[in-house]
Amino acid sequence: MKRMFALLTGLVLMGALTACGGSGVQSNPGQSQTGQEGASSVVESSAADPSTSTTASKPEGGVLVAYFSATGNTRGIAQHLQAVLDADLYEIVPQVPYTSDDLNYSNDSCRANQEQNDPNARPAISGTLENPDSYDVMFLGYPIWWGQAPKILCTFLESYDLDGVTIVPFCTSGSSGIGGSLEELQALAPNARWMDGQHFDSGADQNEVAQWVDSLGLGL
Ligand SMILES: Cc1cc2nc3c(=O)[nH]c(=O)nc-3n(C[C@H](O)[C@H](O)[C@H](O)COP(=O)(O)O)c2cc1C
Repeated sequence: MKRMFALLTGLVLMGALTACGGSGVQSNPGQSQTGQEGASSVVESSAADPSTSTTASKPEGGVLVAYFSATGNTRGIAQHLQAVLDADLYEIVPQVPYTSDDLNYSNDSCRANQEQNDPNARPAISGTLENPDSYDVMFLGYPIWWGQAPKILCTFLESYDLDGVTIVPFCTSGSSGIGGSLEELQALAPNARWMDGQHFDSGADQNEVAQWVDSLGLGL
């Protein structure tokens, strides 16, 4: 009788665990899931059930497009995203704007190069994001500077509690991909659900951006 009870309890528990798997965006801790080619995956550092699906139902909270853009290229992509998603748009504005001299990367000592060479650089941001807790999904855009995100992205990520938020990075650049910029950013919001990043040419149109959004499987 005791054995029968133990067996039945085991079966009930297994059923409950399977049901809890749900359909949320989940993945193995700290592991990037590679789905179909072109599809994005989630890198999550909090514990998760490895049996769960990567396809999410429509998020209940808001969707934010946050971006930094020194010369306008990333802003253009962010605006396409806002239109496609009907999302809120937030520009990360430096307290001290970057001049063209600041951005002259052929000069070793220009401001941008100095910041990128200093792991502790945290350029100040003007203003704050309103209602940061109201977003489930945050698209995060930036230009690539020396293979990395500009340090002001570090300032931004350290300013908010992004635990559990799905972060979808995107970038523009001359030619570099987004891959090299992700590790530093992910370490600053380790309990967010990081999806693979996406690089766009500065001239990418709304249609291209919309196709990418569709491919994410976020139900947006
Ligand atoms: C300081 C600095 C460093 C850059 N480093 C890179 C780089 O490593 N690879 C690259 O492809 N483009 C690089 N670029 C070019 C920018 O990524 C590119 O022009 C980007 O689209 C600018 O975006 P924005 O107009 O939104 O600021 C760099 C630009 C600057 C100012």
